[in-house]
Parts: sequence; structure tokens; C-alpha cells
Amino acid sequence: MSVRIAPSILAANFAALGIDIAAAERGGADLIHVDVMDGHFVPNLTVGPPIVQALRRVTRLPLDLHLMVMDPDRFIPAFAEAGAALISVHVEVLPHLHRTIALIKSLGLKAGVALNPSTVVGCLEEVAADLDYVLVMSVDPGFGGQTYIARSASKVRAVRDLLDRAGNPAPIEVDGGIDLGTIGDVIEAGADWMVAGSSVCHSGDPEAAVRALRSAGSAAAARRAGARPQGRDA
Ligand code: DX5
Ligand code: ZN
Repeated sequence: MSVRIAPSILAANFAALGIDIAAAERGGADLIHVDVMDGHFVPNLTVGPPIVQALRRVTRLPLDLHLMVMDPDRFIPAFAEAGAALISVHVEVLPHLHRTIALIKSLGLKAGVALNPSTVVGCLEEVAADLDYVLVMSVDPGFGGQTYIARSASKVRAVRDLLDRAGNPAPIEVDGGIDLGTIGDVIEAGADWMVAGSSVCHSGDPEAAVRALRSAGSAAAARRAGARPQGRDA
């Protein structure tokens, strides 16, 4: 599975989102990660469907929505209509997770489930075969620019084991504190998609930052493939 770089717009200049997105796109970004926050599940507010609709017009890249909201089912159809390609929802707010995953897929989108740092991996056991991807939070959600939680690598390994046992090759996305110092750790542990906010948008050169992350990520994926000769590809 190849490494994908998903710059998060949370750290971008909100008055000129198209400029930072274009730079990330020139650097080879694969997805644009959009953090939706409701001021309830997390203590912060960000964007809704109108902004997603506007972003859809300025990039050809898939929009990867991370819903940090208490009632995602209420908003999923509007975000699908606005142009999202992937939607992840937090297991911590969903007693009917199976139904929510089915809803996202029924709208033709990829469905992901996000886990907070304190959430146990086993809660995905019964839906592991249904998921298109799993988002492992490597910080507590709500803000950009936080410090990567070192335990996240072992969390990634546990998620990979769970997906493999379910026969599901779905990728693992990691979100929070990803930079050139941490990307190798999570990719070697089995992660595939890297969300990066501050390390891209606050770098002064988002295009070069995306390239550097991809280069470091690809090197880590090659080490992973070398360490597992009969495992998944790099
Ligand atoms: C945090 C968000 C992240 C955030 C990451 O709640 O889910 O996507 O933008 O930002 P950095 O890369 O700065 O940790
Ligand atoms: Zn996010």
C-alpha cells in the first residue's frame, strides 16, 4: 500500500484556502483533509458544507472529511452533497456505528472510523470488515499544532492486526503531530495515510513540505516492506 499525504487545512490561511491547497497539490498531496468541529465533541468550531462546496471547486484532490461532531448522521448527506469523497466519524459518539458506516457508503463515499487516543482498538471488532479506512488520532482532537503521542505507533500496530484478522486490507490514517520526526514511526508501525497540518501549512513552503513528508514516508514504507518480506507492499 502506498503512502498518501493528506494536508489538513486547519493550519492554513482561512482567508486564502485555495492558495495553500494549490501549493500542497503542486507538492504531490493525495488528499485534502478537512477538519469539521462542532464546539461540543471538541472545544472548537471550524467549517460546514458551504466551505466544503467551495473547496471542491478549487482542487481536483479528494476531500477527506474528519467529522469531530456529536451527531454526524445529521450532517453526512449535506457533506456528501457538498463534494466530500471520504468521511470519517468518531466511534466515541456513535452507538449505531454500523448504521452510520452504511449511510456513508450508501452515498457513494469511503467510510472511515476515527479513534481518540484513549479509545480501545477492540471497539472496532464487529465492524472491522466493513471499514474503508481507520483514522488513528495521535493527539486529542480539537486543535492543530499539538505534540504527537508516542503510544500511537503501538495503537497503529493493534489496528493493523485487527483489520488483518478481519481480512480487510483497508489503510490506516494517522492524524496529529505528524512531521519529519514522527512520520517514520507510524508508517513503520503499519500506517499508510498521513494527515499533516502545521508541518505543511506553517512551514513557509507547503509544496516543499509535502514533498519532504512523502520522501520520508516512502523511505519508512520501504523499511517496513523490507522487515516483512511476505507482508504487504510498500
Ligand atoms: C486535530 C485535527 C487534525 C489537525 C492536525 O483535531 O484532527 O487534523 O489539523 O494538525 P497538526 O498536523 O498540526 O497536528
Ligand atoms: Zn483531522
